[in-house]
Order: sequence, then C-alpha cells, then structure tokens
Amino acid sequence: MFPFKKRLNNVEIDKSRLPAHIAIIMDGNGRWAKRRGMPRNIGHREGTNALRRIVHKCNDIGIKYLTVYAFSTENWNRPQSEVNTLMDLLYEFLKNADKEIAGRNVRIRVIGDDYRLTDKIKEEIARVQETTKSNDGMNLIIALNYGGRSDIVHAVRNIAEQIKSGEIKPEEICEDTIEQKLYTYGIPDPDLLIRTSGEQRTSNFLIWQLAYTEFWFTKTLWPDFKEEHLFEAILNYQNRDRRYGGV
Ligand code: IPE
Ligand code: IPE
Ligand code: MG
Repeated sequence: MFPFKKRLNNVEIDKSRLPAHIAIIMDGNGRWAKRRGMPRNIGHREGTNALRRIVHKCNDIGIKYLTVYAFSTENWNRPQSEVNTLMDLLYEFLKNADKEIAGRNVRIRVIGDDYRLTDKIKEEIARVQETTKSNDGMNLIIALNYGGRSDIVHAVRNIAEQIKSGEIKPEEICEDTIEQKLYTYGIPDPDLLIRTSGEQRTSNFLIWQLAYTEFWFTKTLWPDFKEEHLFEAILNYQNRDRRYGGV
C-alpha cells in the first residue's frame, strides 16, 4: 500500500482512474515572497522545495508523467539577477536530482530550447537524462527555456527540412507528423493541467499538447502547494466528463 492519505474530505481518490500525465504551471513564487516582505529569490528557493515535495508525492501515488514549467522562453525578460537565480536553482536541482530521486526509479527529461542555456546547465541536463534513462517509473519532464510556440516553430523547421530533402511530401503532413517533431514526442498529452497563484492562462505552455486537457486553477501560491492541493486537483479531475467532442 502507498504511504499516503488518500482521503480528502472523506472522498476517496480513485486510484484506477488517476491522470496518467499531470502538467503544472508553478506560478506565484514572487508574490509568496513579497507577502512576507522578502526578495523574490527566496520565493524561487521555496518554489524548488515545493517541486521536490510534489515530485515525490506524484511518484508515490503512481502518476506516470509529471511535466513542470520551470522557465519559459519569455522569462528571459526578467531582470538579469532573477534570471541568474532561477538558472542557479535549476542547476542545483539537476545536480542533486540523482540523490533526490535515488531508489525511486524516476526518469528525468528536459524539454525546451537549449541555445540560451549555459554549457554548465546543458552538461547537467545531458548527464541527468543519461543516468536516469533506464528508470521506468515516473517520468519527470522539466520544461526549461520552453515555449509552446517555439516548440511548434522547431517542429515546422524540421518538417520543412524533410520536404526539402524529398523525405516527405506536403500532402503527407498530418497531426502525427507534427507530433513526432515536438519536444514531447512519445509522451502522452497531459490529462490534467494545474496552475497555481490564481492566474488563468497557459502562458505559452504546451499549447499543442493541451488541446483536450482538463484545467484546474488554484489561488494557492506555488511555494504553498502541498499534497492536499494535489489531491483536490486530482479529485476534481475525476469528476469531469471528458467528451473529446463527442456526446
Ligand atoms: C513562478 O513564479 C516562477 C517562474 C515563472 C520561473 P513567479 O516568479 O512568476 O511568481 P509571481 O507570478 O511573480 O508571483
Ligand atoms: C509561467 O509563469 C512560466 C512559469 C511558471 C515557468 P509566468 O509568471 O512567467 O507567466 P505570466 O507572465 O504570469 O503569464
Ligand atoms: Mg508568475
């Protein structure tokens, strides 16, 4: 049995109907710090701790894929010192990831553009992906320098190259062709998207992949996000009627 409380207000989560893939927009670190009169960087540090907690919890309950939005292609527009803090925290997270997930059979993958990342981070990404690649438990997917539009642009370029070389014909392009070129190739689309901090937008996260995802928003700021919020989101998801355009 799993060592977790599976009851929320006496309603049980149905473990046979868990979302296979949960995506999270971890938002509200800055406001969390501001409310405490602290610098935003402290909020980001607490946000990393929340991420660790939720990775463990999702793994414990048997979620197969967890994708977290760690840094968007637009986040470069923040002050340089904040960008540096976020990159340092991500570097630390990746560096300690093996220790963190030791014995938990978690596979780590990173999606996003790598061209603005430092060599130091790129090396850690390559290392952690390599050392965890045979783990067949939960897949933790970290969206780092990720943008949904950039994901599509990258795919279109790839397909254009294939057309140029005569590998495929334009009329052969279908949804699968595009899907195969996205960073998320091989990963099922998210079933549930969670966004914290009260904002209700996608902010350029997985725009293709979220076509039929169920959205759940909470005012809770990311550093305060705990097991009970995760369960509340899953429970809410389990009460949705997913029709995919049918009746
Ligand atoms: C989320 O928290 C972290 C990242 C976007 C990297 P924010 O830094 O966006 O926090 P708020 O939205 O300003 O409160
Ligand atoms: C989205 O949050 C990006 C991440 C959580 C990494 P933002 O805080 O950057 O999004 P906006 O600016 O509120 O849309
Ligand atoms: Mg924000």
